Amino acid sequence: MRVFSAALAALLSFQVAIAKPLTPLRLRSPPAVKETHFVPRGWAATGEPTPDHVLDIKIGLKNKRFAELEQHLYEISNPSHHRYGQHFSKEEVDNLVRPNENASTLVDEWLQDNGIEPSQCSYSSAKDWISVSLPVSQIENMLDTKYSVYRHEDGTSMIRTTSWSLPQHLHEHVSTIQPTTAFLRASPKLQTVLESPDVEVAAEDFPPNSSDLNGVCNWEGVTPACLRTLYGTIDYTPQSPESHIGFTNYLGEVTNRNDTAAFLQQFRKEAVSSAYSFEQISIDGGPIDNGTGGRGYEANLDVETITGQVWPINITSYSTGGSPPFAADLFTPTNTNEPYLTWLDYVLSQSDLPQTISTSYGDDEQTVPLSYAQSVCEGFAQLGLRGVSLLFSSGDNGVGANGTCVSNDGKNTTTFLPAFPASCPYVTTVGGTRGYPEAVAYDTRNGYVSGSGFSNYFAQPAYQKDSGVVDQYIASLNGKLDGLYNKTGRAYPDVAAQGYRYITIYNGSVATLDGTSCSSPTTASIIALVNDALLAAGKSPLGFLNPWLYTGAGAQAFTDVLTGSSTGCNTAGFEAKQGWDVASGWGTPQFPTMLDILGVGGDADQ
Ligand SMILES: *[C@@H]1O[C@H](CO)[C@@H](O)[C@H](O)[C@H]1NC(C)=O
Ligand SMILES: *[C@@H]1O[C@H](CO)[C@@H](O)[C@H](O)[C@H]1NC(C)=O
Ligand SMILES: *[C@@H]1O[C@H](CO)[C@@H](O)[C@H](O)[C@H]1NC(C)=O
Ligand SMILES: *[C@@H]1O[C@H](CO)[C@@H](O)[C@H](O)[C@H]1NC(C)=O
Ligand SMILES: *[C@@H]1O[C@H](CO)[C@@H](O)[C@H](O)[C@H]1NC(C)=O
Ligand SMILES: *[C@@H]1O[C@H](CO)[C@@H](O)[C@H](O)[C@H]1NC(C)=O
Ligand SMILES: *[C@@H]1O[C@H](CO)[C@@H](O)[C@H](O)[C@H]1NC(C)=O
Ligand SMILES: *[C@@H]1O[C@H](CO)[C@@H](O)[C@H](O)[C@H]1NC(C)=O
Ligand SMILES: *[C@@H]1O[C@H](CO)[C@@H](O)[C@H](O)[C@H]1NC(C)=O
Repeated sequence: MRVFSAALAALLSFQVAIAKPLTPLRLRSPPAVKETHFVPRGWAATGEPTPDHVLDIKIGLKNKRFAELEQHLYEISNPSHHRYGQHFSKEEVDNLVRPNENASTLVDEWLQDNGIEPSQCSYSSAKDWISVSLPVSQIENMLDTKYSVYRHEDGTSMIRTTSWSLPQHLHEHVSTIQPTTAFLRASPKLQTVLESPDVEVAAEDFPPNSSDLNGVCNWEGVTPACLRTLYGTIDYTPQSPESHIGFTNYLGEVTNRNDTAAFLQQFRKEAVSSAYSFEQISIDGGPIDNGTGGRGYEANLDVETITGQVWPINITSYSTGGSPPFAADLFTPTNTNEPYLTWLDYVLSQSDLPQTISTSYGDDEQTVPLSYAQSVCEGFAQLGLRGVSLLFSSGDNGVGANGTCVSNDGKNTTTFLPAFPASCPYVTTVGGTRGYPEAVAYDTRNGYVSGSGFSNYFAQPAYQKDSGVVDQYIASLNGKLDGLYNKTGRAYPDVAAQGYRYITIYNGSVATLDGTSCSSPTTASIIALVNDALLAAGKSPLGFLNPWLYTGAGAQAFTDVLTGSSTGCNTAGFEAKQGWDVASGWGTPQFPTMLDILGVGGDADQ
């Protein structure tokens, strides 16, 4: 019955919607399981969604030319390659990822067989993503699955399934369909809010003109003046009108202009106007400051950290709506999108992008289905090809929070817990430090430890292999921690920056915040200033940083972090050592050295 009526609908829509003659591929094959994923720890099924609950689903078509795309990315990001800096336009990237016509036709035919008209769907600009809103009952038929409402220990809920199927002949064409198995909550990498900071905050405590670090920095209350002095950007004046930095907000976090202005008034007076001029982009209903008082600690930390360091460079705040989380009950029809894909869909459709973008969100890699992680990570690679430097926080639980380090594959193996997107090889992952000389960041008051690890999803990338530093670090452990981490995986973080007790204004009051959420926007700010110097000199921006860091001269511009360890999983974790290490990557940025090695150092050395 269902098959018949669906086929009829498909036939009708054919005649109406498609003008040009179609290759009659019309393949049909029985459904076969495409993906299964275990329910991550902390989640339990609590019931069934109402059949008419609408989900926005995204269908990803496989990029069969990804190996080619990756090679382009590595070549244009490698300073010793003759194509270095030759970033791709939107159209050039679209051409690389556009699925072949047969794949698109077969997927469209399958949708039509299920009564879905092309006019109901929206397509990404490269046609590699199809989005459509459908009732759960219809998705269940299409994917031969059954959705449940899952509730997390912390009270948030999602509608997900643990397994889904597709006709066999589509397996080679479809990379992922979500939301299905992705229990992704993208928690902000912000460990704590210390409501009553034990530092008195007054601008005069932080004289911005001091050249003596300890005269500028109070390590229990880090300010822009401290960061600008420590990392050497304080004497630099941005010069290029083309310079542009972005950062992302998820989970309903809202930046607040009044709080940002109050922060800048105290810590970067000349930049106050930027509190009211930075651009806000709402994607899929993401909340922005519209004067009604929304705010969030993470969002304020990000915007205050960036405005405090990059003024007067243009700033864009992206706010992506949709789940997670949504506080659903069984009868509330709320959309449940996946935020990274939604954000990527938006930015990849834009012709002009910021040269640098910071993200301070992430989750345990194992809670993210492999196909979803690959799709998102490949989207980040496309941004790298476009010349965007992507910075991500490394996580706040060291190698994994004590007592939680168990695999969720049903075997309960004791294991370190890598984070995603930190583990994606096409982003630059930033760990946290504290004090001076800088050490791997931790805070015994709240259990925060800068995150590090080895991916179980992504193999060690060419730039890490070629540099040899990851394998050297593994060898230096002499078997210590064996069995707890994946020696063949992508290791992170790549670099580090202060990630301890940043002064933040939230709702008119001072809070001091811990987390690699501090480190990513700080590093992004410094990279944005480097990109500014490059643009002003008529050069290409840095783009994807890692080949430059691992196989070029980039690492020379980072100060080695020698002490501390990313403890966790009831172990001492990975220790910082001389040279590259898994706890702190290459260490912390030195802006004047970066300009020197890039040949744009003249003005910045004052
Ligand atoms: C598309 O399918 C047709 C018919 O099966 C086949 O002849 C053709 O080679 C396919 N094209 C591509 C690009 O795979
Ligand atoms: C620098 O700061 C000191 C206080 O630490 C102050 O006395 C001095 O006037 C300042 N100099 C300038 C040029 O602002
Ligand atoms: C910077 O922002 C200003 C004001 O919003 C805008 O007019 C200008 O086009 C922006 N520049 C770039 C390069 O985005
Ligand atoms: C910001 O301050 C202005 C003026 O005091 C006030 O009207 C507005 O509601 C405030 N906005 C937010 C989001 O708090
Ligand atoms: C303003 O933003 C808040 C969330 O921050 C949202 O609830 C409200 O609907 C928005 N109002 C308008 C008019 O957009
Ligand atoms: C793994 O742990 C879960 C939750 O603690 C438990 O329900 C399950 O039985 C365990 N499985 C094995 C194979 O030990
Ligand atoms: C985790 O366990 C290690 C080793 O047992 C311990 O040193 C560390 O303090 C613990 N971390 C937290 C946040 O409790
Ligand atoms: C280790 O990482 C590789 C990718 O480098 C992956 O194929 C493998 O499955 C991982 N092992 C485990 C136990 O997850
Ligand atoms: C903001 O502060 C006011 C008091 O100044 C308080 O009433 C309000 O609940 C606070 N809002 C938030 C979101 O913390």
